[in-house]
Amino acid sequence: MAVYPSLKNKVVIVTGGTKGIGQAISDALLANDALVVATYVHDEHNAQAFLQARTSQKLLVVQSDVSKSTMRTELFSQIKVHWNQSVDCLVNNAGILQQKPFYDITENDWDETFETNLKGAFFLAQSCLQSTPVSSIVNIASIGGQIGGDKAPHYAASKAAMVSMTRSLSRLGSAQQCRVNAVSPGWIETPIFDAKKLSELQQKAKDEILLGRLGQPEEVAAAVLFLLSDDASFITGQCLNINGGMYFG
Ligand SMILES: NC(=O)c1ccc[n+]([C@@H]2O[C@H](COP(=O)([O-])OP(=O)(O)OC[C@H]3O[C@@H](n4cnc5c(N)ncnc54)[C@H](OP(=O)(O)O)[C@@H]3O)[C@@H](O)[C@H]2O)c1
Repeated sequence: MAVYPSLKNKVVIVTGGTKGIGQAISDALLANDALVVATYVHDEHNAQAFLQARTSQKLLVVQSDVSKSTMRTELFSQIKVHWNQSVDCLVNNAGILQQKPFYDITENDWDETFETNLKGAFFLAQSCLQSTPVSSIVNIASIGGQIGGDKAPHYAASKAAMVSMTRSLSRLGSAQQCRVNAVSPGWIETPIFDAKKLSELQQKAKDEILLGRLGQPEEVAAAVLFLLSDDASFITGQCLNINGGMYFG
């Protein structure tokens, strides 16, 4: 893993930072001496295990539902109390994937998907740009947003919108020299998939991914850290594919 001195003692929010890709991003940030705020929403047991396994003074774990405005406000208050520092970077990673047949998708599913995957990210970015001199934001999109998905069209739409939002935020953030980028992972081995789905994807990966395998969360984290760091100082408004060669666009 590369070392980024520019991330030392930077306060970085990682939504969904206690599991899967978010956990790998939190760990990579801790390894770079950043002050990490990792959020979760439902899985208290996993969040506590994550915290206890690290015993780091530089890690704050907060239960905060990105889709709820009161919880987003409370998150900033907790950061202020804990470190008395403003937020330097934001990683909008929290996301949900509901895979179900097209005609079974309800309005509730649509709302939950967009509120988690997009609305939360938008308003966290707004708060960061409004109240703190934030230097970099990275949004986690998805290959689903690029190639579409018949099992989760609402998820795919939310992730396509994430890329569009990234471009708008890069324009809005530029006045204060805040860079805003996205990464678009392909199939990554995380708890977002159950065991049956994972083994199905592992088989499909042999034919559908040039590198012939699923990606690992650490491989996404590596790209996110680069984009957060000053090494990416002239990169903004971009979306970087991390998909093993599954899609080139
Ligand atoms: N894995 C892939 O193949 C893949 C591919 C492309 C894009 N992505 C994207 O990458 C991101 C991370 O995915 P992952 O695979 O690491 O998923 P994951 O293992 O299921 O982890 C998701 C994390 O997001 C948190 N979360 C969910 N809803 C939230 C909410 N309303 N507020 C705050 N946190 C919330 C979860 O909290 P709890 O632990 O409390 O449930 C969990 O920590 C997502 O945006 C996903 O769409 C993943």
